[in-house]
Amino acid sequence: MHALSIWQRGTEVNAVAAEALKQGADCLDAVEAALRFSEDDVRDSSTGRGGLPNAAGQVELDAAIMFGPTAEAGAVGGLRRTSQAISVARRVMEETPHMLLVGEGAETFARQQGFDESDLLTDDSAAKWQEWRRGRGGADPERHDTMATLAIDGRGQIAGGVTTSGTPFKLPGRVGDSAIIGAGLYVDQGVGAAAATGVGEEAIRVSASFLVVELMRSGLSPDAACRRALERLLSSHPASAERQLALAALRADGAAGGGSVKPGFAYAYFDGGHNRLVQVGSVLD
Ligand code: GLY
Repeated sequence: MHALSIWQRGTEVNAVAAEALKQGADCLDAVEAALRFSEDDVRDSSTGRGGLPNAAGQVELDAAIMFGPTAEAGAVGGLRRTSQAISVARRVMEETPHMLLVGEGAETFARQQGFDESDLLTDDSAAKWQEWRRGRGGADPERHDTMATLAIDGRGQIAGGVTTSGTPFKLPGRVGDSAIIGAGLYVDQGVGAAAATGVGEEAIRVSASFLVVELMRSGLSPDAACRRALERLLSSHPASAERQLALAALRADGAAGGGSVKPGFAYAYFDGGHNRLVQVGSVLD
């Protein structure tokens, strides 16, 4: 059993996945429980209710989930009235022939599936949006800390999920990497899983998560695969050096790794015994 969740605050999220795995949950249930914990935490300004809104003051959530044994995946983009984006993504995977639902269609589907409608903007996120509108900051637009969890269960099955409110104060309708299988998330039962965080456009540019998995398939370690993917991004698009992109990977044998363009990225890693924070090396200083 292994689990990886990104960023320092991923330690708490990963503990949820670890506990679920220890109780015998399969990897999909562990991933969903961990990311629901993040979405339900209104102190978290990057996921679910309380996530920072777009330029028009509307929260728009993106999420995706993928299951290694079947290569099935589901995703949602631009959810404005449903806080449990990861669970809606899972329903897209399990209940429809599609992989990605966006906007009003995704909302209608969520209602049909029994998800409650709610106001995703909190007093705190509304205040930050007002500060941003007055030109007084409100949030660092470079900080859009998508939450991701990758997990291997007791049967060796691997799954991953990502959930985010996306780039703070983005243009309405902008969908980021977290809704795009291959960019923000990819899982291959025979190789492993990878997820991205940071500026989603950079992850989309190189299909970052798919690239990391393919680099692991070619024999690179999780750390080396993440680093090589970032180097590929920087060599094909040097301007990407100005923006943060971070990657994390969990190989099918449980080995974990990560990399980032700029310093400051970390992930929590549960190896079946302990849940610990791992600081990640950056390509640039
Ligand atoms: N990585 C999340 C986003 O850019 O939307």
